[in-house]
Amino acid sequence: MSKSHEDTEALNYEWPEIQKRLIEEAAKKAAEESGEERDPYRPHWTTNSDGTRTLHMSFDSWWLKHFDREDVIFELPGIVIMNTKTWNADSAVVSLRAAYGLGNHEECDDCFDYADVLKHIERFPEGQFAAIRISGPAAGNTVGMAVTMRASRPPTAPILPWREAIGDMQLSSHEPDGDWLYGVEMAVHPMYRRKGVGTVLYDARKRLVSLLNLRGWYMVGMLMGYRDHADKMDAVEYGNRVIAREIKDPTVTMQMNRGFRPERVITDYVDESDAGDAGVLLVWENPHFDRGRAT
Ligand SMILES: CC(C)(COP(=O)(O)OP(=O)(O)OC[C@H]1O[C@@H](n2cnc3c(N)ncnc32)[C@H](O)[C@@H]1OP(=O)(O)O)[C@@H](O)C(=O)NCCC(=O)NCCS
Repeated sequence: MSKSHEDTEALNYEWPEIQKRLIEEAAKKAAEESGEERDPYRPHWTTNSDGTRTLHMSFDSWWLKHFDREDVIFELPGIVIMNTKTWNADSAVVSLRAAYGLGNHEECDDCFDYADVLKHIERFPEGQFAAIRISGPAAGNTVGMAVTMRASRPPTAPILPWREAIGDMQLSSHEPDGDWLYGVEMAVHPMYRRKGVGTVLYDARKRLVSLLNLRGWYMVGMLMGYRDHADKMDAVEYGNRVIAREIKDPTVTMQMNRGFRPERVITDYVDESDAGDAGVLLVWENPHFDRGRAT
């Protein structure tokens, strides 16, 4: 059976572009009938001849107005990775808190809030990443996020505690000319773990290091599995055994498996009781770094 022109045309669109097209065409038709132009992404009601009311546009489709395929860096089934935008900054905050088991209103001194994320986007837009669902009932929501900044301080220098390294929650220590990428935060919503979201968030940042021709990227991966071993050993012994691959840590082993070289255990890095406040310094050197091109 041959495909109709309409079917063939539809095949040229991908989800969620198909959904955008349907919404915009419905709005165009409604405007032709009523003579009244409307923002197709703004929900509105009309009254039918029998007095019943019809809602035009789903409340879940607000995000489609902002979605642009050009922004997509990597794609997984039903999830895309892009730089965090102002329209998904608030759901990035929700996924960050969920990743650490915190509700939206629970106190958290080390959690970025909406205003912080907006400032990160302003300071270093290419360094902020969001994993966004593009299909299903939670479409438009951020399911993972990553925050980075640039630093001239190399990983061979003494590692500063997290707060001191970033300056403040709005990344005042970001150095636009710094030749290292510094990993500030990374979080995937617990419902979306073990689907490769964390891996592509790492890939997106490795790509950025290459694009910006930086020397490399370092971070302190928090020893989030320490809580299960705290009665048997201190955080330094735990970290060293994770580095030696004798113990598997849910965060640091995953990072080691993504090509980061573990250097040493860093104590008193950030207030995180599950990790005994400790992490492992992890370094990834850019194999494509071009000294001649460096600023
Ligand atoms: C660490 C963290 C970001 C990882 O995110 P994630 O999305 O689960 O990461 P991935 O799915 O890419 O990889 C996790 C594991 O799932 C496996 N995995 C990936 N895709 C999979 C799939 N489709 N099916 C089954 N397993 C899969 C990976 O192989 C990996 O295991 P491995 O390291 O043994 O290879 C996430 O656990 C998290 O947010 N933790 C809490 C916050 C935190 O610790 N942040 C980091 C602070 S430094």
